[in-house]
Amino acid sequence: MAIQKVRGTNDFFYNETKKLKQIESYFHSFAKIYGYEEIRTPVFEYTELFTRGIGEETDIVGKEMFTFTDRGERSLTLRPEGTASVVRAVIENSLLNERSVNKLYYMGSMFRAERPQKGRYRQFNQFGVECLGTDSPYADVEVMLLNINILSHLSKEYGSAALSDISLEINTVGCEKCKPEYEKALKEYLKPNLDKLCATCRTRYEKNVLRVLDCKVPSCKEVLNGVPAVYDYVCCECKDSFDKVKESLDGVSQKYRVNNMLVRGLDYYTKTVFELQCRALGSQNAVAGGGRYDKLIGIFNNGKDVPAVGSAMGIERLMLILEDSSLAQTEKSLDVFVVAFKETEAFSISMLEKLRRSFIECDSDLNVRSVKSQFKTANKYNALYSIILGPDEVNSGKCVVRNMADGSEEKVDIENADKYLLMKLAR
Ligand code: HAM
Repeated sequence: MAIQKVRGTNDFFYNETKKLKQIESYFHSFAKIYGYEEIRTPVFEYTELFTRGIGEETDIVGKEMFTFTDRGERSLTLRPEGTASVVRAVIENSLLNERSVNKLYYMGSMFRAERPQKGRYRQFNQFGVECLGTDSPYADVEVMLLNINILSHLSKEYGSAALSDISLEINTVGCEKCKPEYEKALKEYLKPNLDKLCATCRTRYEKNVLRVLDCKVPSCKEVLNGVPAVYDYVCCECKDSFDKVKESLDGVSQKYRVNNMLVRGLDYYTKTVFELQCRALGSQNAVAGGGRYDKLIGIFNNGKDVPAVGSAMGIERLMLILEDSSLAQTEKSLDVFVVAFKETEAFSISMLEKLRRSFIECDSDLNVRSVKSQFKTANKYNALYSIILGPDEVNSGKCVVRNMADGSEEKVDIENADKYLLMKLAR
């Protein structure tokens, strides 16, 4: 039986890779515009980084990590997200001492053993940003706006109606001082209706009660109708930070929705959290999410806290939203296609190399099929010019250069074909 890809993974090729690269180039540009520099971290880390960083009671750590033991009996895990790795790298490389604020971004594959469905994969790609070293709520807003700007530019440029329908959902989850207050109130609220909660939520009630707010099961949703808002329980500092985020969003006329039920699936969050939700995505509707994590760095930094905020965008989800848009609908393009004959095959290879050394994008038919088929391929690849290199041409030292748009042909010294084409291509 043929070997197939692992469930929940994706192959990208041709048009899909083109889309991916277009999107990635947006990420690079916008990250630079907002003052972020790229960081690359390993795809696997010691498991402890994620268990301690993301939280033992989260779904990710509890049941979704790809964990294995190396030959030295150490437990390693394929990264399920990027934040913990960035925090580890920043501490390990003493970057916190070098700059008061470190603004870093990354792109890459993450791995979670979730039940695969549309928009939910076991290997997926994220574009993430982390701003470490400030508790300013304006940093939270900057992170939100960076994500929104990317989406709105992509939507405008590629005409995606679905992408223009994005909602910025914000909430506060409090800090280590006030979160327990809210958890207590939430437990009190849920207690009389415990039997109506699903089995998962009954466990969450004991271990991580905030996660009940995120449940999509109808009976749980019904119980949650009228649940107390976390904002009413958080301390002045968290309230103040959240209010400043809202004021600042108002200040740039950015619409948002305060969503009392937004809690996020990772334990490291403090104060403001956010998600960018897109209705077109269906049940997996979050295209990006993030928030403040003022206590995460302290876990790995000998207890010395450093405030930070960040986000990550799901690239596959973004591509799903852009499916109906004009993104990367262009076919392959070439400057020159070299039409060769069996007798001139070796010569054509040296011609191709000569052109490539002059940075001319060119290709040929490595199977040297009929001239008719080769011209068909040249057209399929949208070649601007073709060079015909038959035995007569090679013997006479002159090749035929055809302008593929109007069919006009010129005889050109083979020796000078590269210079001639550079001139024609206006390079
Ligand atoms: P997250 O909400 O777990 O946050 O993931 C961010 C985004 O990654 C999601 O909004 C979604 O678009 C995408 N995503 C997550 N899981 C999958 C999946 N199984 N398949 C496809 N896409 C997926 C984080 O990862 C945090 N590290 C974000 C952050 C950075 N917070 C602070 N800094």
